[in-house]
Amino acid sequence: MSSPLRLGIAGLGTVGVGLVRIIQRNADLLALRAGRPIEITAVCARSRTRNRGVDISGYAWEDDPVTLVRRDDVDLVVELMGGENGPAKALTEAAIAAGKDVVTANKALLAMHGLDLARAAEEAGVALRFEAAVAGGIPVIKALSEGLAGNRISCVKGVMNGTCNYILTRMEDAGLPYETVFEEANQLGYLEADPTLDVGGIDAAHKLTLLSAIAFGVQPDFDAITTTGIERISIEDIRAAADLRLRIKLLGVARLSGRGLEQSMSPCLVPADSPLGQLKGGTNMVVIEGDAIEQVILRGPGAGEGPTASAVIGDIIDIARGLRLPVFGQPVATLQPAVSARATAAKPWYLRMTLLDKPGALAKVAEALGNAGVSINRMRQYGHEDTRAPVVIITHKTTRDAIDHAASLALATGVLVGEPVAMAIEAD
Ligand code: HSE
Repeated sequence: MSSPLRLGIAGLGTVGVGLVRIIQRNADLLALRAGRPIEITAVCARSRTRNRGVDISGYAWEDDPVTLVRRDDVDLVVELMGGENGPAKALTEAAIAAGKDVVTANKALLAMHGLDLARAAEEAGVALRFEAAVAGGIPVIKALSEGLAGNRISCVKGVMNGTCNYILTRMEDAGLPYETVFEEANQLGYLEADPTLDVGGIDAAHKLTLLSAIAFGVQPDFDAITTTGIERISIEDIRAAADLRLRIKLLGVARLSGRGLEQSMSPCLVPADSPLGQLKGGTNMVVIEGDAIEQVILRGPGAGEGPTASAVIGDIIDIARGLRLPVFGQPVATLQPAVSARATAAKPWYLRMTLLDKPGALAKVAEALGNAGVSINRMRQYGHEDTRAPVVIITHKTTRDAIDHAASLALATGVLVGEPVAMAIEAD
């Protein structure tokens, strides 16, 4: 058997510990599948003494991630520290500069600096792999960049943040308001250290940035994605959606039309009985549409120790086997700018507004929508709350720009309490 592949692991949190466990538990299997032993030689984390429930005494300890990278007995660097800048970026750059392969789970780093890092990796002739950065244990990067590489992809969409999906499904199942479920998720440890990464849609948009780059051959560009979080979704929205046999999902959509690439991460409504509508709790789902396959649906655990470590070790085995792939599926110089085609695709929209309950209020809102070119398909008025009347409108197909215009005209009428909540209805 060939010489071992020697790993330096930076970061021993949930995923790092999961990786150590897999390598210790499955050493024989890994060696068979990789064609060579996979060994950990050195580790680096914030605390040396913390009890992590795994034995790391056999590995050299480094306090400084960059020193870990420079060790002669480290061939491959595993970056599991997280963070868009700081030590994770310094470590990744140092590893590439030292000619070492890198495996990372860091979606923020790659979504924000992926183009530069990919260029550097390509120039240095090293691998930079990131399966664990998107949808946890689902091998979606591999599916797009290898199994489906022969397809012209027309659409990648899905639920890519388990915490948001947990919050939305728990609100519906338990009939609880957003604030209560958010606090529950916090107590359960589901939220990122900065919860806005989850509920603001940013974490999921980082993931969509990476999928888009591979699927459509564009430069990873987080800013090209129109991102809206779930913070304004109320229990009234959840109930109104259920009334309409729809469910609310934080849905990432990257769709190629004749006019360009439309990319958004936002709460959307999907049919309740569709695969996306049926998705419960922290599970992720990615739907890929291509000219040869029509549709492939991948579903699985989007986070957690085992699933994320499974994705990391998959990348490590590929590198041990000698597999060398372009970071984003094709040479960096051929990736096109991700020019966003906002507002091109017409869809039905859900609008929830709270009106002052006085004569003519609804007529003013209807006129505002008409003036924006938005046509009403269905409308429901829910139980009055004192002097307020909650109204849900389903429009005929229209664009995001028209909806934004309609919402601002409706606000200007002075008959609304608060801002309208608008969500596209995505056919599954
Ligand atoms: N906070 C993320 C989620 C973890 O809830 O999906 C994996 O990125």
